[in-house]
Amino acid sequence: MGAGIAEVLARGGLAVVGIEVNQDALERGRGHLENSTGRAVKRGRLTEDAQREILGRVALSTDFADLGDCDLVIEAVPERLDLKRKVFAELDRVCRDDAVLATNTSSLPVTDIAVSTGRPTKIVGVHFFNPAPVMKLVEVIATVLTEPDAVTRVADLVRSLGKTPVTIGDRAGFVANRLLFGYLNQAASMLESGHATRDDIDTAMKTGAGLPMGPFTLMDLIGLDTCLEVLDAIYAESRDRRHAASPLLRELVTAGLLGRKSGRGFYTYDKSAAESAAEAAAGPAPVVGVVGVGPLADAIAALCDRAGAELRDSAAGLAGCELIIEAAEDAEAGRALLSAAAQAAAPDAVLAVTSADGPVIGQAMATGRPAGTVGLHLPDPAGTLAEVAATVATAPEAADRAADLLGRLGLTVVRCRDRAGFIVDALRFPYLNDAAAMLGAGYADADSIDAAMTLGCGYPTGPIADLDRLGLDRAVTVLNALHTETRDPALAPVPLLTEHVTAARPLR
Ligand code: 3HC
Repeated sequence: MGAGIAEVLARGGLAVVGIEVNQDALERGRGHLENSTGRAVKRGRLTEDAQREILGRVALSTDFADLGDCDLVIEAVPERLDLKRKVFAELDRVCRDDAVLATNTSSLPVTDIAVSTGRPTKIVGVHFFNPAPVMKLVEVIATVLTEPDAVTRVADLVRSLGKTPVTIGDRAGFVANRLLFGYLNQAASMLESGHATRDDIDTAMKTGAGLPMGPFTLMDLIGLDTCLEVLDAIYAESRDRRHAASPLLRELVTAGLLGRKSGRGFYTYDKSAAESAAEAAAGPAPVVGVVGVGPLADAIAALCDRAGAELRDSAAGLAGCELIIEAAEDAEAGRALLSAAAQAAAPDAVLAVTSADGPVIGQAMATGRPAGTVGLHLPDPAGTLAEVAATVATAPEAADRAADLLGRLGLTVVRCRDRAGFIVDALRFPYLNDAAAMLGAGYADADSIDAAMTLGCGYPTGPIADLDRLGLDRAVTVLNALHTETRDPALAPVPLLTEHVTAARPLR
């Protein structure tokens, strides 16, 4: 992280002094700088001359005294308060009185660092995101002691580096980590509980929610030890059990499996994570039956059209279908339609109950042939992800067949157990609820929250915009289903959401 920040500053034309603890660490830092800028040269993003200039701007040293002329010092040492305090005491001694001292901590209170120095008014947080040269967000954290001028100077500097500053107060996790880590931890719990596999969860969030990386790939990038530190810090403040680190994460860290940097975490890095992606299903497009009318039925018709699959929606036609999808807008109507379809269907046809929220076992029982029935969720009906849920009554061959038939419709299929929200909605709506809670509490405004997730974590849209896009009524429905299933108070829709639904007003 230190090398990444030094690169950002040097690319911005600034003279940088990089301090490391010893000569070995210094050489590693130099290696990071050379590799990262070298990669940009290889990609044609940087000329060799420009690379030389950038590297020439960074003076590396093991002597704190070399920081004496600096206007700003950014600390990025390991996340231990005693170590940070020691470093800041040294900085306090060697730096000019008007120098601003910043910490890149992601888990410790900036205030705890500030009060241990002789210049608490000049201590700020500057929180970069991994990989620092790429991610455009920098959170600038002002404590109750920080003088406004120090915050302005740092925010201006961040802007001059081509990054976007979001200025906020000193709360555990700031904006982005506070919203990101509940989701990452929930993904780890989902894996641990056997709800779905690592690869299916990663695929679901990339393909179904459009995220640049799935949660396990991202945790491996961040470093599992860092993930654990951030979760412990947020839990200490929130006391929300969704931030109580998953035992699986703790176990991996104890075993020294820290992610990419140690060669193994959730994935093993002797072969790339992408290689384990499932192969596309092969075979002719199936004959599909659809019962029910509405937008979902229309989306399935469009999907069949694209895949060249024959679509039947008459009672007589259902007998020859390999897959019959219930796509009614109303669950009661869907139940009646599917039980009628079950009578007409061929014995080996798979019945798929669509569900936007709750588990499907009730509808599966109502078909009279639950062994041949699966749950189906298309998180984005115009997208390419299909989530298939097997209930406790689903025969394994029926779930396999459903996955194969949907794959032959050109969909990417992931599988999970029969729980509210399947994978994508079970992970994204609690995160969206947290964002609404943050907005409601006034910690950050809608623009800052959205910028944190789009610029800090590469999300295609921020959570507040997402809530308006997906529909606040849908958010409330899914959250109520998740809350009913788990009785976890943190999953109940926050008052701001229910209030906006009642008032029929978007958040923005
Ligand atoms: N260092 C420098 N540059 C890098 C890099 C690295 N480690 N990794 C990727 N890049 C550059 C590439 O050179 C490329 O640059 P170019 O467009 O100028 O050629 C660009 O990033 C895109 O890289 P790739 O094409 O190889 O890969 P992707 O398109 O898959 O993008 C990614 C990679 C930018 C990492 C993208 O997957 C992403 O945005 N992931 C989300 C990352 C994220 O969420 N970060 C925040 C984590 S939380 C955090 O850091 C806070 C802390 O407190 C825990």
